[in-house]
Amino acid sequence: MLTDKPVKTSADKATTARPAGPGPDMDSLITYFEGQFVPLREAKVSIMTHAFMYGTAVFEGIRAYWNDEQGQLYGLFVREHVERIRNSCRIMLIDDVPSVDALTGLIVDTVRRNDFREDVYIRPSFYKSTKAIGVRLHHLESQLYILTIPFGNYVDTEGGIRIMTSSWRRNADEALPARGKIVGGYVNMAFQKSEAELNGFDEALVLTPDGHASEASAANLFVYRDGVLLTPPVYDDILEGITRKAIMQLAEDEGLKTEARSIDRSELYVADEILLCGTGVQVSPVIEVDHRPVGSGAVGPIARAIKDRYFEAVRGRRPEYRHWLTPIYEGV
Ligand SMILES: Cc1ncc(COP(=O)(O)O)c(C=O)c1O
Repeated sequence: MLTDKPVKTSADKATTARPAGPGPDMDSLITYFEGQFVPLREAKVSIMTHAFMYGTAVFEGIRAYWNDEQGQLYGLFVREHVERIRNSCRIMLIDDVPSVDALTGLIVDTVRRNDFREDVYIRPSFYKSTKAIGVRLHHLESQLYILTIPFGNYVDTEGGIRIMTSSWRRNADEALPARGKIVGGYVNMAFQKSEAELNGFDEALVLTPDGHASEASAANLFVYRDGVLLTPPVYDDILEGITRKAIMQLAEDEGLKTEARSIDRSELYVADEILLCGTGVQVSPVIEVDHRPVGSGAVGPIARAIKDRYFEAVRGRRPEYRHWLTPIYEGV
């Protein structure tokens, strides 16, 4: 530690369940690491590992939701995350990646072996494992880990959050594609998140290099204006969010009009409602942008309806969205 001064952030207050990170009981969580299931404490890499030196790895963040009445843990959009990590691998010249079925099975197996009875977070990652100096993508070996930890809410989803426009722009597709979930690329998001939190906000609104609203530090953006639910298009340097697609579906099922188009910064100041969505933030209504209240300054009816429907769906309480879910435990 370079400083002994604790920095309290909104994420600290909002994180529930056990702390997200290795602790005494975290160390024994079953992890898939380089072809074997091992306790987390044994999943270690050398400091010479290429991915450690240059950020040359890709990852996914997946949630699984515990349903107490049903005694079942539901993996959310597992196959979709597997498809996306395989695409991130293509971008990063990582080959020999398992098929969608094989990787989905491995993820489910890793979670199942931990016998969780609570909400969890799952992180598969392919990383350039060769021990070598020299920045490049080609002619390097890669490996896979899958770790899974108990995980509660990442930000407050109830009362609404406050966001500020970041002075840091999103990395452009021609510089470091946001379409891939590339570990090194997340330093860009870290600049944005820290700037927002250290200035007393919950999240950052991030603009594209040409000044359009792109997304938050690790969440996609929705803006409700003039009866249409808008979201930035895939060419505005967003991660093509899996939750974003689900929210489009939910909104249409609620009878709302949706549209993917570029959004100006000032459109957020005159919006009726705003919400962020993603595996981490889930569905988080925004009540303030750059010190301007959004709509009435409280969580609005559109955000509430979408959020309620979303949380019922992810816990397996809505049969019409059961295809989103992969039951982890057999015979339940
Ligand atoms: C930069 C970024 N944007 C958006 C999202 C939301 O994507 P998803 O809904 O697929 O989790 C994430 C991940 O959570 C992210 O890291």
